[in-house]
Amino acid sequence: MSHIFLYGPPGTGKSIVGKKLAANLKLPFIDLDCVIEANAGRSIPQMMEMQGEFAFRELESLALKNSVTEKEGVIALGGGVLLREENRAVAESAGKIILLTAKLETLLDRLNADFDKRPLLTGSLREKLSALLAKRAEHYASFSIQLNVDEKSVEQNVRQLQIVLGLHHLSAMGEYDVVVSDISNLKNFPMQNPIIVTDENVAKFHAQHVVDVLHASGFDPKLLTVPAGESYKTLDTVNRLWQGFLDAGLDRKSTVIALGGGVVGDMAGFAASTFMRGINWIAVPTTLLSMVDASIGGKTGFDLSEGKNLIGAFYPPKLVLVDPKLLKTLPDAEFISGMAEVVKHGIISDPELFYLCGRGMDWVKNNLEEIVKRAVAVKIKIIEDDPYEKGFRAALNLGHTVGHAVELVSKFQLRHGEAVAIGIVAEAKYAERLTVAEKGLSDAVAESLSALGLPVHIPKEMSREEIIRAMRVDKKKNAGSIRFALPVEIGRVELVDVMDLESVLD
Ligand SMILES: NC(=O)c1ccc[n+]([C@@H]2O[C@H](COP(=O)([O-])OP(=O)(O)OC[C@H]3O[C@@H](n4cnc5c(N)ncnc54)[C@H](O)[C@@H]3O)[C@@H](O)[C@H]2O)c1
Ligand SMILES: [Zn+2]
Repeated sequence: MSHIFLYGPPGTGKSIVGKKLAANLKLPFIDLDCVIEANAGRSIPQMMEMQGEFAFRELESLALKNSVTEKEGVIALGGGVLLREENRAVAESAGKIILLTAKLETLLDRLNADFDKRPLLTGSLREKLSALLAKRAEHYASFSIQLNVDEKSVEQNVRQLQIVLGLHHLSAMGEYDVVVSDISNLKNFPMQNPIIVTDENVAKFHAQHVVDVLHASGFDPKLLTVPAGESYKTLDTVNRLWQGFLDAGLDRKSTVIALGGGVVGDMAGFAASTFMRGINWIAVPTTLLSMVDASIGGKTGFDLSEGKNLIGAFYPPKLVLVDPKLLKTLPDAEFISGMAEVVKHGIISDPELFYLCGRGMDWVKNNLEEIVKRAVAVKIKIIEDDPYEKGFRAALNLGHTVGHAVELVSKFQLRHGEAVAIGIVAEAKYAERLTVAEKGLSDAVAESLSALGLPVHIPKEMSREEIIRAMRVDKKKNAGSIRFALPVEIGRVELVDVMDLESVLD
């Protein structure tokens, strides 16, 4: 990782947004103007008046140079620092610059509140600000990452920034970062004696690259490859992992890197949770499903012949590193299946994500990074609010009550995502019948899912009775009623306890 610079016209909220962003990411925060004032022992307006703008700009350049030598953090820049080419070069080589933008009216509203601190804008604020924006229009337009802050709260802007940056810090069952970035950033993460756990398919495409990345940072990583697929998500395979850890000489300080889909992540995480009473692990998900779902939230485990995920532990990794480029080698059917979870996340709390998915597969594949970043952010927000699944985390079950049952009755002929797509539509129709959801919601959802190549109808030959029975068995712990996560509108779901399961399917 590197520094995050917030830049843009006066009044865009660089300081307040930057401070909150830094707090969320557990990073240090520097407000460059405050540093300059502290160094000079006087306020910026005083500096301007006594020494002139050139002298102030000199101090600003110096402060910038010094600040980038500090530990990586969030740095709020004054609105004109990067006009100097040398300063821009310093910032560009030390991190990412995000330009905050806003309409003139928004800026005026905010600046009117504290205009005495803005020496370049005293006098008629509107005129001066308009002139300043016009003068700097080309300059500001030249920054590639921009975020408009109009009509949004500080929290919303910070959240949006985190999505754009692909940076999150979870404080749920332990502290860890979830980062959407290039796999080569693995080298920046502290670890010891790493061992890569992967499956045969993923190994073919990606293992060597990860080995090379770790080699380049001075490690001599071991590689442990297990057979691919759910049928190997067993105690036998976990046992092979434990044995492999012993053979490789792992100790309590070693780090397991799970490179693979949900199957590898669940098993490697579980093996790490129990090996020597728990060693560090890092998740590097390689399927869409594991990027947006399985790798986030700290659930690990394996299957028994009696059922899936019956044995497991909450044991979050120390880092989740999501590199959407790894999806290039993922078979299409797996990719499409993963899109059901992405659409689900859109329906739960990100309408924009839902509409983007509606643009179809070509658009999605050409804009994968944005899709993955948004979907990851939805899951993170829910986990943060409810790490142990005591309440609203159940929202993630949208489509899964019917979906799991359909998956089971199909004897796993339907992929998980396919069954979930069918489940989402069935549950949306049910929500409409209950008048929990607005009319037309299920059609909109079905249209979006089928445009992505997902099925949306329960197969004709599948018995309704069997599905209902399967729902009951799946959730037998909630004797009597079953808790559904039902869509209310795109971007909002509600938890509803249902007794009369017969009424769920039309
Ligand atoms: N822990 C959780 O919170 C959680 C949540 C949801 C699902 N899960 C679990 O996740 C599992 C499903 O995960 P999945 O869908 O990722 O399945 P998976 O791990 O079996 O991967 C699917 C297939 O794709 C292959 N593959 C993976 N990445 C590839 C790549 N980049 N290129 C080429 N091939 C690749 C795999 O070898 C496998 O054959 C289930 O066991 C489920 O229980 C866990
Ligand atoms: Zn799922």
